[in-house]
Amino acid sequence: MITRRKALKALGISSLGAGTGLCIPSLTSAQGNSDSGNPLKIPPLAEGEFTGNARQFQLRLRRGSSNFFADTATATFGINGDYLGPTLRFRRNEAVSLHIQNALGEPTTLHWHGFHLPTSADGGPHEVIAIGDTWNPQFTVVQFAGTFWYHSHMLNTAGEQVYKGLAGMIIVEDDEQQIDLPSTYGVDDIPLLIQDRRFNDDGSFRYMSSYEDTVVGMRGDVILVNGTRQPYFVPTTKLVRFRLLNAANARTFDFVFSDGREFQQIASDGGYLESAVTMNRLELSPAERAEIVVDFSDGQDVRLISVGKVSNFPEFPGAMSVMMRSLNTQNFDILDIRGQGRLQDSAPVPDRLASIYRLPEAAATNTRTFRLSMGAGMRSGDDRGPGTGSRNGNGGGHGGGNFSINGRRMEMNYINERIQFNTTEIWELTNNSPMMHPFHVHNGQFQVLDRNGQQPPANEMGWKDTVRVGSGELVRIIMRFTDFIDDKNPYMYHCHILEHEDRGMMGQFLIVE
Ligand code: C2O
Ligand code: CU
Ligand code: CU
Repeated sequence: MITRRKALKALGISSLGAGTGLCIPSLTSAQGNSDSGNPLKIPPLAEGEFTGNARQFQLRLRRGSSNFFADTATATFGINGDYLGPTLRFRRNEAVSLHIQNALGEPTTLHWHGFHLPTSADGGPHEVIAIGDTWNPQFTVVQFAGTFWYHSHMLNTAGEQVYKGLAGMIIVEDDEQQIDLPSTYGVDDIPLLIQDRRFNDDGSFRYMSSYEDTVVGMRGDVILVNGTRQPYFVPTTKLVRFRLLNAANARTFDFVFSDGREFQQIASDGGYLESAVTMNRLELSPAERAEIVVDFSDGQDVRLISVGKVSNFPEFPGAMSVMMRSLNTQNFDILDIRGQGRLQDSAPVPDRLASIYRLPEAAATNTRTFRLSMGAGMRSGDDRGPGTGSRNGNGGGHGGGNFSINGRRMEMNYINERIQFNTTEIWELTNNSPMMHPFHVHNGQFQVLDRNGQQPPANEMGWKDTVRVGSGELVRIIMRFTDFIDDKNPYMYHCHILEHEDRGMMGQFLIVE
């Protein structure tokens, strides 16, 4: 196994040096450094059955009981199982028909995150599945090959329902886009649905137990990957593709390997990047996905970890400063890879993966601004606290917890934006709050034009549906609004920190003629 010293030494290499801003205060994670561990669970693959004119999937949402710890049971929610759901495999250009039965005992919804589809099939807060009901959305899959997901989008309780287990991965395949990449599910094509959870002593989930949880979102101290605590994976091939899905409610992960090894990112939220991006560190905020290919041919033990960040939030007396300074500062072990001597050969990652048409800025006929805020009351969050002498609009005063976009909170019967059908728009996302918000738009994929006036990094140049907007940042995205006109039923845009979404950091748009 990886010793702490070995890992620290390895991380000291220059590729992870100060230049990258990477900080590794200590490799002792919240979970300790255990040599035991559990084999990584692989969610069952559901391919559906093609009958009629669509691929049919049966999904039953129900309560379950899970043994994350050896002798304690945790009450959970699951989809066709006790915790989480199967990985659904869709094919581009095929219709899917989903039969969802709600046996949870409470109302819910199921949303297909990242898909371009009619609002009636979107599974947002308006498409409630009442207790005991079934819901049968149907849509044609027009997405490119990629990694997507599905999860509860129930108004005000999405956070709690996802926390308990209402989520799963979706893989879209494209028969016309054959790229020689590791693609045997569960063998060299591995889903990693990553979450952090907090538990009570009796093994039950502990959801929202402090004021902090309502402000920065619900973060746990135990990592679950596909519902596995302390997971390990044993490669059998030289190259392995991991489909990383940050399915945490609020935590951002900053992935590195313990020996600093490089890997290649091949896909972002909406599909392949133009070409693989070589990197040794990858940040994913809630709901973001990335596919990476890692070379394990050296046969070494190595660990995928999430490294904490040094907070640059100014220190001043008061709860807000303490909270913001503690954001994402912890290290976590995500997955142990147990090195193997004899591995099957893999084909090298091709140079070119896809061609991505960059939406030209000039195509946009309208620009909208979305201001993400979380402060109100005595201090509107427009300064950095007493004694710092800086007033730069980065927030940090008091009054966190009042979440809004453009000063409004989500209201089910208020339409925030009306968008002209068949147009391209630029959305300017600003954030005057003290923390990052992952901004997500329904109805498909957008592109990031720029981040604070700079071209985004190479791995943000592909299709995206969720983008990080850091404190004080200006991120411009560009998106086309095509195919589905509906002057009654809206799509959502929101912060994907689920506790922020549940508390109003969401808005609605219509696509109108
Ligand atoms: Cu992943 Cu509106 O959600
Ligand atoms: Cu979504
Ligand atoms: Cu947020």
